[in-house]
This record gives sequence, C-alpha cells and structure tokens, in this order.
Amino acid sequence: MDSFINSSGFFKGNDPEKLAEKFGTPLYVYNEDIIRDRMLRVANVITKYPYRANYSCKTNTNLSILKIALDAGINADAMSEGEMRMLLKAGFTPDRIFYVCNNVSADEMRFAIDNDILTSLDSLDQIRMFGTINRGGRCAVRINPGVGAGHHEKVVTAGKKTKFAIAEADIDEIFKIADEYDLKIVGINQHVGSQFMDPSPFLAAVDNLLRIAMRFKDLEFIDFGGGYGIPYHKLDDEKEYDMEAFSKEFTAKLDDFVLRYGSVPLFKSEPGRYCVAEGGVILGRVHSIKENSGIKYVGTDVGMNVLVRPSMYDSWHDIEIIRDGKVVGRDNAGFEKVTVCGNICESGDVLCKDRELPKVKDNDLICVLDAGAYGYSMCSSYNTRLRPAEVMVCSDGSIKLIRRRETFEDMFAFYEG
Ligand code: LLP
Repeated sequence: MDSFINSSGFFKGNDPEKLAEKFGTPLYVYNEDIIRDRMLRVANVITKYPYRANYSCKTNTNLSILKIALDAGINADAMSEGEMRMLLKAGFTPDRIFYVCNNVSADEMRFAIDNDILTSLDSLDQIRMFGTINRGGRCAVRINPGVGAGHHEKVVTAGKKTKFAIAEADIDEIFKIADEYDLKIVGINQHVGSQFMDPSPFLAAVDNLLRIAMRFKDLEFIDFGGGYGIPYHKLDDEKEYDMEAFSKEFTAKLDDFVLRYGSVPLFKSEPGRYCVAEGGVILGRVHSIKENSGIKYVGTDVGMNVLVRPSMYDSWHDIEIIRDGKVVGRDNAGFEKVTVCGNICESGDVLCKDRELPKVKDNDLICVLDAGAYGYSMCSSYNTRLRPAEVMVCSDGSIKLIRRRETFEDMFAFYEG
C-alpha cells in the first residue's frame, strides 16, 4: 500500500498541516469511522451463541473513544480504579464493566464491590482478600491456560513465565477458598497475550480453558481475553487478522463445549488493540536532520514520552511523510535510510532505525501510524514534557478536540511546598 492515510481517507479532507498548526505537535489524531468499524467487527466474532466483546480500555481511555464503544454496544474491561471511573463517567453501567485486576489493594477492590462491578481475581491471595471484604459475594477467577502469545515477551500473559492468573494445579484450592468465604464463582477468564496474527496459540488456550471450565459448575460466562493483532506493516502489504476464519474455528470449539457442558454460558472476549490501534495516528514535526558516523538522524518531537512502544518493545510503526499538507508518495519519491528519533534525553529515544523513507526535509510532518492503541495511554511527562492533545476526525468530517494539550499550570498543580 502506498499510503494508509490516503487509502483510508484518514483525515477526511482536512489538511493535516492545518491540524498541526492549530493544535500543535505532537498531536494524536483519531478517525471515528475506523474505530467504529473495528468495534463492530469484534462485536460479531461469535454470532451463534450469546457473546459479548469487552473493549479493553487500558488501550485508550479517552472518553470520546469510550463513548464510541458504548454506542457500538460493546462492554468494557478495566484494570484499575481509574479505568473503572473513566468507564462509569463515559456512561457504562456497572453490569457492562468487568474488573480484571492484578495485585490490587483491598481499597481498590472495595471500589468495584461498592459500585457493583464484577471482579476477576487472579491469585489465591486475592480471592481470600475479596472473600474477607465481601463474604458471600460473586466473582470470577482468572485461569492460566498454559499457553501464551504476543509480539514481545513483555506482553505474553499466560504460560510458564507470567505474573498473571491462577495455575490449573491450584484449581482445587480455588474451590476450597470459595467455600470458606461462601463466594459464588460465576465466570472464568483468561488472556494469553497481545498482538498475535496467528490465532493458533489463542485457540489452543481456548481448548484448555474449555477443558478447565468443565470443573466449574453453573458458569454464567467464560471470557477468553483479547490479543487479536493488527497489521503494523501495512505499507508493506501485511494482511489483516483473518477474523472470518478465526471466528469459524472459535465457534467450532464452542459447539463442542456446549454439547458437553449442558448449558450455554455467555462467551466473552477482551480486545483492546484491535478496536483502536489503526484508528489513531500521531502527527509530529521534523526539527532537525543530521548525519553522525554515516547514520542519518531525523529529529522530531515524537519522543518516547509520546509513544513508548518502539523503545519499550522494539515495536514497528509505519511512518508517512507529509509536506505542504500532502503525503509524500512512496512510489515517486527518492528513498533514503534514516533513523527517526524524538527530543528526549536518551539514546533509546528512537521511533525507527535504518528505515527506508521518502527523503525527509526539515519542517516536514511525520505521521506515525497505528498509534491509537497503547499510544496516549502509555505516554508520560518524562523530561518534564507536556502530554499532547488528542483530536477526533468525526464521521461527518468535522474535527473535535477530545483532550487538550497539558499545560505547565497542570503540571505545577501537583506540587506542594
Ligand atoms: N485483557 C487483559 C486481561 C489484558 O491484560 C489485555 C492487555 C487485554 C485484554 C487487551 O489485549 P489486546 O487485545 O489489546 O492485545 N502495551 C503493550 C500491550 C500490553 C497488553 C496488556 N494487556 C503494547 O503496546 O503492545
């Protein structure tokens, strides 16, 4: 694909240069249509049985994006009190929120309990803690299905090397503790990891979880977690995750389970990245181009404070160059190998190394693709830089500021003394 920006009509006729001038760079820009489309796709992964997709909002908690999920009729999962509060603020009723926590305090659990939000517990100790503060309550437990997956070892959340979930070997212990505190386990859940394009590990984990589910009586739901990948190499024509084929294989496994289990629980999943990654880009400005020991460095304002994924996981993000409001085409521009970096005081502050890009000039805009997931939600104020603004290209083509840029006043407001 020559340009995702052009082929998707990302800016809907708005001039990216004008957006950059009006809102400043770096700037997160989202496209409502793309996000809505992906949310509808995940909502329909299973159609034969009762099924709910939960948008995993750690990916992006901007209220406007949560409202799209709300409107698309999907539910949501939360990992923290902050995420629960954001979802409630966006208008999710407590029954549409699933709190999937890890190593949290009794106070944070109490917030979920007081707000009637169902909690998934992921260690024997956390079940005891929950039982102590909510004797006789309803809960879910997170099981390690023994198989993990993901784009980097840091995002694999099941299998042998993970802090998450309860091992199959401890299931008898779960029942004992549940008896002791009179808890009702209404659901089980898993999450194998993030960003897989090959569904086999996920489907193997589905088999395992369904086998384990047979040991739990009267389950109201089984939640298989998220992780569906998106094509980060789209400019090199990487194919999309084959949702249709996946959905067929997934459904066949449920067919088999339903026959054996005797009742039909609600089936759920927790996609995050798939819903929002492709619907978000970052516009950044080139401020300097230089050569050091034969390497050409393109210096921009998109530092690791704005997008940490490349420096944290060596993640690939396609980059398009925009000049005078137009994408510099990849077919007719001279290419050169460059290393694109940010303005943070670390040598690891690199967006991409030795990347073939159309010849970049000072003051060009870079457009970093697939930044809607784990972009803003992981950004920081490192080097005392301000968090960027976020704008939405709405379905009707209008531009809406959905979070203003942080100010130094905001920053100073935290300090005492
Ligand atoms: N459910 C649970 C319990 C999770 O821990 C996660 C992600 C998800 C659902 C959503 O997974 P997704 O569909 O988005 O893959 N920061 C990393 C990804 C970390 C994922 C953490 N858990 C990245 O930028 O690649």
